[in-house]
Amino acid sequence: MAKKMYDRIRGFFDPIEEDDDTEFKLPLDDSVKLHRPMGTVRRVQHSFKTVKGRRNGAPVPAVLPLDDESRALLEIAKAERGKAYAQYSGFSVGAALVAESGQVYLGCNIENASYPAGICAERSAFCAAISAGERHFSALAICGGDDRVPCYPCGICRQVMAEFCTPDFPVILADGVYPLAVLMPHAFSL
Ligand code: THU
Repeated sequence: MAKKMYDRIRGFFDPIEEDDDTEFKLPLDDSVKLHRPMGTVRRVQHSFKTVKGRRNGAPVPAVLPLDDESRALLEIAKAERGKAYAQYSGFSVGAALVAESGQVYLGCNIENASYPAGICAERSAFCAAISAGERHFSALAICGGDDRVPCYPCGICRQVMAEFCTPDFPVILADGVYPLAVLMPHAFSL
């Protein structure tokens, strides 16, 4: 039983078969939408690309390649990284959050001598945006440490993204564009 389950899970993470041309879209079903917290429920825009491939017969959530727009947003996050206050870890992070209004909100990590009092760059960007009255967002770019290496957001930041963003929300990292559902498939909600 455990082995069978392990095989299934491992299969899910196998590389996509290059020559498999099965088409699918990100599996954004109604159950995902119904579980969005109140106030932020929105119809998912079916604007994401159709991609090809399958793992063990199941649709594979897509990580999309960087395009010019996402590279430009990464550059903005990279510039913001320079403002980080990260004297304890030495790991500077910058985030650029695009609101549906078109406004870009910036955030950097701000550490503290009392370590847990520090805040990540992503949440700092969300704090700036939410307190400016924004509620709907269209993309987030993150640049942390070596800008050639993806800085995957921490679990708390993923949960904050899930509060305000739909499952197809694009999270732009150094190695590609991750739909939020890929990074945070089962967010907590009340
Ligand atoms: N950090 C971020 O700002 N964002 C992330 O996605 C991961 C971690 C910060 C928190 C802390 O200031 C430093 O990086 C090292 O953990």
